[in-house]
Amino acid sequence: MLSVTSLSKTFPGVRALDGVDFTARAGEVHALIGENGAGKSTLIKVLTGVYRPDPDAGELTYDGAPVSFATPLDAQHAGISTIYQEVNLVPLMSVARNLFLGREPRNRLGLIDFRRMHREADAALRELGVRVDVQRPLRELGVGAQQMVALARAVSVDAKVVIMDEPTSSLEPREVRTLFGVIRMLRERGIAVVYVSHRLDELYEVCDVVTVLRDGKVVHTGNLADLDRLALVSLMLGRPVGDVQDEGLTKFSGEHDAAAEPVLRADELTARHQLHGVSLEVRPGEVVGLGGLLGSGRSETAKAIAGALPTDSGRVLVAGAPVRTGSTPAAIRAGISLLPEDRKAEGIVPGLSVRENIALAALPGLSRFGLVDEARIDRIVDTFVERLRIKTAGPHQKVGELSGGNQQKVLLARWLAMNPKVLLLDEPTRGIDIGAKAEVQKLIDELADDGLGVLLISSDMEELIEGSDRVVVLKDGAVVAELTGDAVTEDRLMRAIAATPAEGKHVE
Ligand SMILES: Nc1ncnc2c1ncn2[C@@H]1O[C@H](COP(=O)(O)OP(=O)(O)OP(=O)(O)O)[C@@H](O)[C@H]1O
Ligand SMILES: [Mg+2]
Repeated sequence: MLSVTSLSKTFPGVRALDGVDFTARAGEVHALIGENGAGKSTLIKVLTGVYRPDPDAGELTYDGAPVSFATPLDAQHAGISTIYQEVNLVPLMSVARNLFLGREPRNRLGLIDFRRMHREADAALRELGVRVDVQRPLRELGVGAQQMVALARAVSVDAKVVIMDEPTSSLEPREVRTLFGVIRMLRERGIAVVYVSHRLDELYEVCDVVTVLRDGKVVHTGNLADLDRLALVSLMLGRPVGDVQDEGLTKFSGEHDAAAEPVLRADELTARHQLHGVSLEVRPGEVVGLGGLLGSGRSETAKAIAGALPTDSGRVLVAGAPVRTGSTPAAIRAGISLLPEDRKAEGIVPGLSVRENIALAALPGLSRFGLVDEARIDRIVDTFVERLRIKTAGPHQKVGELSGGNQQKVLLARWLAMNPKVLLLDEPTRGIDIGAKAEVQKLIDELADDGLGVLLISSDMEELIEGSDRVVVLKDGAVVAELTGDAVTEDRLMRAIAATPAEGKHVE
């Protein structure tokens, strides 16, 4: 249905794609995988007219005929529907408007037929199990719900090819199920689906074929069933299966002293309509997971601890000393770092360099008498670029030019560079490849050895379970359960999350 041969794409200083052959067939779900910066998004953008391939490097064929798309809209009109990694919706416009952008239903006078648009948007979302007021601005929705809107938009057009660049990174298990249902339906209708994800387990559920990119080159294409997970990771990283196995690439290994004085204590945190007396403790070296559904109060808890959400009552203590609540500067001074969930709105500054983005939060501490210690910043930046394997042309490259996963790593570096005592991570490895995930986790382990305490929020069940020593489960803004040690299993967690507060109140 859609294919390309010997495609290359060069950016100043980077060869993002190098002689790539790729074919998406009708009725087939094609996984596209590779490390952060391997070239996945770039390939998708060349296929859909966002980027031009290098001159004389890349023959595009669509539905049996050679084509070239001048703009993404051309590709869309031709029947290629794409969910880009960076949600390209308009935050201030209504949900319905976003769903129909560029193809709004119109009345006889040529004006937008709002009533029909709202009705149809509502129906399209309901079909995906999403119930929202479609007249609200999109930005009032959580990141996960926004992704569902993008999905509804992508499948509501009559497409022959549907391309999804990390559609599940912010979805909950239930929404992921819905998405997979949609993908299977698309396959049955004979549509070609291209699917990019770093969650390897998911690939095996819905994909038929896999193409692995490494440093802009295709290193493997074939049936997914012929490769196990280990083989896949080893192809991605370009390292022998044995090495990959030895490193047990997804595990935290942190040890901590269960009797130690907590480094973080939250006491009965209450915020109207959002938190109803949340209490928890994190000991040095401990990684405490926060479980719960969307809207259960996980992000709100993290924000309240970090002073970013005003509280009505309750206390926060770091290493036994009370911290003034409701003040971000006070929290930062006390050693609390928060990596926020909505990084587009609250984090990355695309126009600034990698160096500036990393140093941003640490700057006040790196200046003396108004002078910035440039050499020290260089050292910090170099260290994190190396440790987190941030793929960049150099510290002065604009962050907006990095791949999605590498932007994420830059933000993580910013908060780690603060040398915090308490690190609150809201979806820290969203979009990060499996190799880098291991690096991030190793780094957290090392910091934990120095007494750091970590509070981890993740909608990736596997990450939450494997990454946490203990999981505190929230529901409707209150703690309903706590799982420790061997009790931290997917089954127990799912049950605790689903339980009502009254029957779920148990501590194991
Ligand atoms: N507009 C741009 N300007 C300069 N370099 C770019 C640009 N877009 C991408 N690159 C570079 O091309 C390479 C491939 O990036 P791409 O976004 O395709 O990676 P990816 O496989 O999608 O990674 P991720 O898993 O992190 O999303 C990276 O080194 C990136 O920095
Ligand atoms: Mg990408």
